[in-house]
Amino acid sequence: MWMSSMHGKAGNRICRVQGRNMFQEIDFHNIELNPFTTIGEDGGYLITAGTGESWNTMTASWGGMGILWARPVFFCFIRPQRHTHIFMDRENGFTGSFFGPEMAGALAWCGSHSGRDSDKAHETGLEPVVIDAPDGSERVTFAQANLVFSCTKAAAMPFVPANFVLKDTVEGFYPTKDYHTLFIGFIDSVLARHG
Ligand SMILES: Cc1cc2nc3c(=O)[nH]c(=O)nc-3n(C[C@H](O)[C@H](O)[C@H](O)COP(=O)(O)O)c2cc1C
Repeated sequence: MWMSSMHGKAGNRICRVQGRNMFQEIDFHNIELNPFTTIGEDGGYLITAGTGESWNTMTASWGGMGILWARPVFFCFIRPQRHTHIFMDRENGFTGSFFGPEMAGALAWCGSHSGRDSDKAHETGLEPVVIDAPDGSERVTFAQANLVFSCTKAAAMPFVPANFVLKDTVEGFYPTKDYHTLFIGFIDSVLARHG
């Protein structure tokens, strides 16, 4: 596995390969992460899809990891109006990237601005890093990430409101009917930053 860090001249779009071996792969059995606090309470994580040439990222605080279809999986929920949704539909894979508290401002920014009309790398200082995927395609994470889940998209399932059982509770999240898509990824590798 190799990786390259890139600085974007035009931020999210055009990047220059800069370095290698920024992360090391770790066994998912050795992950020490409480999903309830890390995903739900500590400012969330970044979902990123695309290639070094064309990618987008957004902050998420819903999601999780576990076992499905006899494989380790990572799953996230993305509303249809997110620019990231287009990239998640287009690509065969995605990354889920986790950061320390020093990146809280960057995550807040990526969760309140769209890549449709802003340059998230330029605005936040996030440094995009390309990692290779098993199918030979590229995925993107960031040099500042502490832990990265690199995933092959296994399923994309738009929520069907007729399937909500506790309708009164769940429908409250959708006053404009913008039901999330559940994306489920098979975890290809878990990467931890060196040092
Ligand atoms: C802490 C936090 C958590 C968020 N979690 C989600 C989420 O799980 N799913 C989602 O669709 N949007 C979520 N958002 C909103 C998106 O991050 C936000 O709309 C972002 O600007 C979308 O960027 P994009 O249009 O470039 O994809 C969250 C925002 C914040 C600040």
